[in-house]
Amino acid sequence: MKVIWNSEIVDRSEVRIDPEDRGYQFGDGIYEVIRAYNGRFFCLDEHIDRFYSSAGKIEMAVPYSRNEMKSLVNRLLEETNIDTGNLYLQMTRGISSPRNHMYPDAGVLPMLTGTMTAVERDAVKQVKGIDTIVTEDIRWLKCDIKMISLLGNIMVKHEAHKKNAEEAILHRDGTVTECSASNIAIVKNGEVITHPDGNLILPGVTKLVWKKCAEKLDIPVVDRPFLLEEMYEAEEVFCSSTTIEVMPVRRIDERVLFTDKPGDLTTALQAEYLKEIE
Ligand code: PDD
Repeated sequence: MKVIWNSEIVDRSEVRIDPEDRGYQFGDGIYEVIRAYNGRFFCLDEHIDRFYSSAGKIEMAVPYSRNEMKSLVNRLLEETNIDTGNLYLQMTRGISSPRNHMYPDAGVLPMLTGTMTAVERDAVKQVKGIDTIVTEDIRWLKCDIKMISLLGNIMVKHEAHKKNAEEAILHRDGTVTECSASNIAIVKNGEVITHPDGNLILPGVTKLVWKKCAEKLDIPVVDRPFLLEEMYEAEEVFCSSTTIEVMPVRRIDERVLFTDKPGDLTTALQAEYLKEIE
């Protein structure tokens, strides 16, 4: 399988990662997950913009221009021959040898890697929805950075998994922020409510897309924090991410939100989202 290794596309077996790479030792790096549909990346500019924004927030210089990045990932898509799938793109700060917390000097090159996996859309799941749990948001206070240090996220995801759920809805003192690997929104009185961007959540690219869909459909969207109690009383709840798109929440802990099909607004947003990716 072909992969990105710095500025090249190489066979996966050729990639060498140093044991003193800072990504490996400190989780010092950033990433993006970008979906490809029908042989083309979806929202590539938005993802590349966020990649640069995450890098900037940790003072990491990306040694490639936006166009170089785009042509590199497009070349990978072409060479892997994948039609519909996910790109995982990661850049670490490179090597500090011997291990040293301080950022290395400017001469140390970041390590860029990228892998493609073929993943078809799961239309059945889009209707079935996902089961979730509620748990405390144990992460740090810079959740707007799409960084590879994801222990907080994977711990809560694992907690969900142990309880036969797929996603963990996170709250800070009763205010819902987002989920372990997706944003979240609730529907109340015909309005979609979602946590504002800022340091407590990742500014989702998928959220940008469904907000655009909502505008087209004249569905009002309000960016404001909401409490767990509001979520429990909501008419509909959905999560969103590059990989799960607009995903209805079927169950929150013991509370079942729907049994037959997702609510009307979620369904309408899903239909409009589908138009965007086609
Ligand atoms: N996760 N919030 C968190 C914590 C996330 O990890 C993600 C995405 C999102 C949604 O972002 P976007 O719509 O841009 O994909 C929100 C990716 C898919 C992942 O880590 O696999």
